[in-house]
Formats: sequence, C-alpha cells, structure tokens
Amino acid sequence: MNLIQQIRIKAIDTGAVIVLPEASEERNLRAANFVLENRIAELVLLGNETLINRNALHWNLQHIHKATIIDPSNNPRKQELAELFMEIRAGKGLGMEQALALVEDPLYLAPLLIKSGMADGEVAGAINATGDVLRPAFQIVKTKPGVKSVSGAFIMLLKDKQYGENGIMVFADCAVNPDPGAHELAEIAVASAATARDIAGIEPRVAMLSFSTKGSAQHEKVDRVRKATDLARIMAPDLHIDGEMQADAAIVQAIGKSKAPGSRVAGMANVLVFPSLESGNIAYKLVQRLAGAEAIGPVLQGMAAPINDLSRGCSVDDIINLIAITVNQVNAEKISKTYNKQTLIEV
Ligand code: ACO
Repeated sequence: MNLIQQIRIKAIDTGAVIVLPEASEERNLRAANFVLENRIAELVLLGNETLINRNALHWNLQHIHKATIIDPSNNPRKQELAELFMEIRAGKGLGMEQALALVEDPLYLAPLLIKSGMADGEVAGAINATGDVLRPAFQIVKTKPGVKSVSGAFIMLLKDKQYGENGIMVFADCAVNPDPGAHELAEIAVASAATARDIAGIEPRVAMLSFSTKGSAQHEKVDRVRKATDLARIMAPDLHIDGEMQADAAIVQAIGKSKAPGSRVAGMANVLVFPSLESGNIAYKLVQRLAGAEAIGPVLQGMAAPINDLSRGCSVDDIINLIAITVNQVNAEKISKTYNKQTLIEV
C-alpha cells in the first residue's frame, strides 16, 4: 500500500469535518462525493444549494446529500459570524458593513466556520489563487500558539528509494514565505519535522540547506541558516537537525560523511528546509518533473487549524488526497492536545 492510500485509510470514520468553499465547481463536487461515499471526512459544502444539488444529479453523484450545504449569500448565521469576525479583527478597523459583505465570500466564511467550531479544517484553491485562500485564513484562524509563521511543505515520493526514508522526503517551505528570516526558518524546520512524523509517517532527520556546508562559504545568507539551525535546536531539542549544508551533503551518504563528518543528519536527511521560497518552490518542481517524483501538497503547517491550498491545475484525486491529509492533520492535532505535548519551546 502506498503512502497516499495509507493517508486515506487513516482518515476513514474519524469524523473530522472539512469545509469546501469551492463546492459548486465540478472537481470539488466529484471529490466530495468520493470522500462522503468512502467516509474519509464529513463535509460542509459552501455554495448555492439548488445548483449543487442540480449538478450532483447531473453528474450522478449519489452521496452529496450526506453533506451540510451552506449558501454564503443566504446564510441564517450571517449576523452572528460577522460579529465574530469583527471581534477577531478588533483593532484592525473592520466595520460591520464590511464584515457582513466578507461573510458572503466563501473564502472568508470557511475559516469563520472553523473558528466558530462548525468545521475542523478547510481545503480550497482549485479556482482561487494561493494568496486569496491564505489571507482570510491568516486573519481569522491565525497560527498555533507559539508559532509566528505558516509555511507549506511537500511530501515527495521519489522513484529512487535510496534517498530519504525509502524514497519519502519532506521539502519546505515551498509555498508561503518569500524571504524567511532565521526565526521563520527555524519554525519551518520544526513544523516540517512534525509533518514528516504525522503525515508522511517517517522519523525526521532535518537538513537546513544552503550553498555552504559547515562553514565552507562565508556570507550573510549562510549565517542566517546557521542561526536558524541553532534556534530550531533550542525550539525542539529532541529533533535530529543539522546545518548549514549543501543538498548533496544532505542526501548522499559519502558526501555527507566527507563534508560534515559526525553529523547524524548529513547523507541521511529526509526533511529538507530550503533557505527561501524561491529555492524551495523551484526545487520541488524540478524534482517532480526531472526525477518523476510525486509531490503531495502543499501541506500548510503552523496554522491553528489545518487549512490547505490546492493548485489550480489539480485533479479530483488531488482534492481527495488533500482532504485526507487535512483530516490526518486534524487528528494529529487532537492527539497532540490530548497528551499535552509541547513540541515547541518559544525562543
Ligand atoms: N504566517 C502567518 N501569518 C501570515 C503569514 C505567514 N507566513 N504571512 C502573512 N501573514 C499574516 C499577516 O501577519 C497579516 O495578518 P494581520 O492582517 O492580522 O496583520 C495577514 O497575514 C496579511 O499579511 P500581509 O503581509 O498583508 O500578507 P499578504 O496579504 O501580502 O500575503 C501571502 C500573504 C499571501 C501568504 C504572501 O506571502 C504570498 O503571496 N506568498 C507567496 C504565495 C505563493 O504565491 N506561493 C507560490 C505558489 S504555491 C505553489 O506553487 C505550491
């Protein structure tokens, strides 16, 4: 069974409620039908109820009736949710008129439903740009306590099983922070390790990537990665994390041994933290295209409740997979709260 099948199976019958703000769209509705039929999640669909039901009938989607449908422009909870929004944005100059208008926007309504306890997570982005999905999420759901910056990881399933953990690796940040500072990089490292453990099911060994290995080059960008490595070690002392190192030193054993002798990560890294969004985003796309790797994500990490963003070129399967990942994140968070696990030490 491959990783994505495992992720789907782990989600079944766990009862997490996921909201889909783009539910009227065909791929979303087909994915919703599969998710409901296979009990991967309970769903809240945002859109015009008549249109959704008519499309479901037209495409023979027999399980859509199991979802809760909310029409953003005819929502009986509109006033209450607008008041909640104003409360959250107190001090940010949001007026009632503007709040009432934004509550009719599905991309704002979805995080408000999460905040009000009606849903546990959200998947969107099949028809909206990343920034338009993330901005309301940042404003309303915000980050986990102690976390300042949300980031986006990809789980890379490589054809060549000698790399990472039997071919499984996590790359980050590939989706959110254009120019992370040392503190943000450290947070990305700790969050990516959690994604590796909770979603990819591997024990993380985190490499902080640069164009230098252990002082081979001198530059302020190298200093930033070195500082980030120190901070990440303070934040999560139990993690195997090392840097700064070049990509070959991180993933090729012989090179890791010669460039970073004694490192418990070099040559064996399965989580790669890139120094900028440019490098992370370019790297994951090159590995996907040139090495034929499957790229699952981006999995957004660090949000107070899981909200995940699709690519606009996504398939029905991609949406199903991201819903299953979001359910796994909801469940991992519940376990972490149950055991009161404090993974992050604030620095
Ligand atoms: N984590 C947490 N909160 C954040 C983050 C972050 N990384 N970035 C911004 N915020 C918060 C801000 O604090 C602010 O909150 P406030 O209004 O309560 O003060 C709010 O979000 C808006 O902040 P802005 O600085 O105005 O952010 P902006 O709206 O310009 O954009 C965004 C944020 C959309 C994430 C931007 O950084 C962005 O566009 N990043 C690149 C996304 C992208 O295009 N990725 C590549 C494509 S994805 C792919 O290929 C897989």
